[in-house]
Amino acid sequence: MATIVTITFNPALDKSVSVPELISERKLKCSVPVYEPGGGGINVARAIKKLGGDALALYPGGGYAGTKIGELLNSEGIQSIAVPIEGNTRENLIVTDQAAGKQYLFDMPGPFITAAEWHQCLTELGKLDDVKYIVVSGSMPAGLPGDIFARLNRVAALKNARLIVDTSGEALLQAVKAGAYLIKPNLKELGHLAHEEGLDPTSAVKIARQLISENDLQVVIVSLGSLGAMMVTTDTFILVSPPKIEPKSTVGAGDSLVAGIVHYLSSGKSLQESVQFGVACGSAATLNPGTELCRKADAESIYQSMRKPAPVL
Ligand SMILES: Nc1ncnc2c1ncn2[C@@H]1O[C@H](COP(=O)(O)OP(=O)(O)OP(=O)(O)O)[C@@H](O)[C@H]1O
Ligand SMILES: [Mg+2]
Repeated sequence: MATIVTITFNPALDKSVSVPELISERKLKCSVPVYEPGGGGINVARAIKKLGGDALALYPGGGYAGTKIGELLNSEGIQSIAVPIEGNTRENLIVTDQAAGKQYLFDMPGPFITAAEWHQCLTELGKLDDVKYIVVSGSMPAGLPGDIFARLNRVAALKNARLIVDTSGEALLQAVKAGAYLIKPNLKELGHLAHEEGLDPTSAVKIARQLISENDLQVVIVSLGSLGAMMVTTDTFILVSPPKIEPKSTVGAGDSLVAGIVHYLSSGKSLQESVQFGVACGSAATLNPGTELCRKADAESIYQSMRKPAPVL
């Protein structure tokens, strides 16, 4: 039984195709579609698997896409629990324009989740034994109650598990008020929380500290894209910088960062080491084209290079 459970309230079946050139008003011949299971928590579970760990993916699933996500997770060796829903799980479309070498991500709205359905998600979570980390990641679909994070936090407390949240907007605000062990906003998401646009890293640290002192939060990880991430707790602050990398695609970087942190934390590593490894995983994900998550070998070699002491000049 995995000690990490990821929850994806708005999962997606990601369908990737390429076209010779993206031109309007034309019938565009697409390549054979490649299907992948997606949505924040599902991606975190997949990245943890790639890193050699185990996570169980819990999500509401309905219709063809819901079934297909379960099959794909199974083929990747990832345990999952799909809570059946009346609606149809969304299918996202990812189109590569071969002429321009560009990728377009069409993000569909998810189905409405009824009260019986989200209640069932919490019930399934409650039934699991030995859970140490509950990772809630991705967007929140319509139908979820405003106190969903307070409810999740209660389940986490009963299990003596840590709640980790990576979401945005109103949902992130709710998570902060409800309390969580760790949140992972990027600068824009943190700025939105504080009603401040164009945040710089220095003011981000102040805001993160304030969030920790005013709420039941212990750790804020602010991700900074190519600059890495900052870890803020009540009494510590560190900036973790990755080596310079030529990114192929930054899709999946945030999920790989969260996966690396949770994977290391659950292996008993310190918070600081876990954040360093997470940053290495986020950066490793950018080495791969398209939606591909981090590869273990890349993550480990970036991590080692980050831990080498600076040369004495
Ligand atoms: N251009 C880049 N070069 C090197 N590393 C990167 C780059 N972009 C992202 N990363 C790595 O990925 C991590 C997460 O990236 P980012 O801050 O973009 O998260 P995010 O905004 O949540 O991303 P997402 O769009 O996946 O949700 C960073 O902390 C960093 O380690
Ligand atoms: Mg993100």
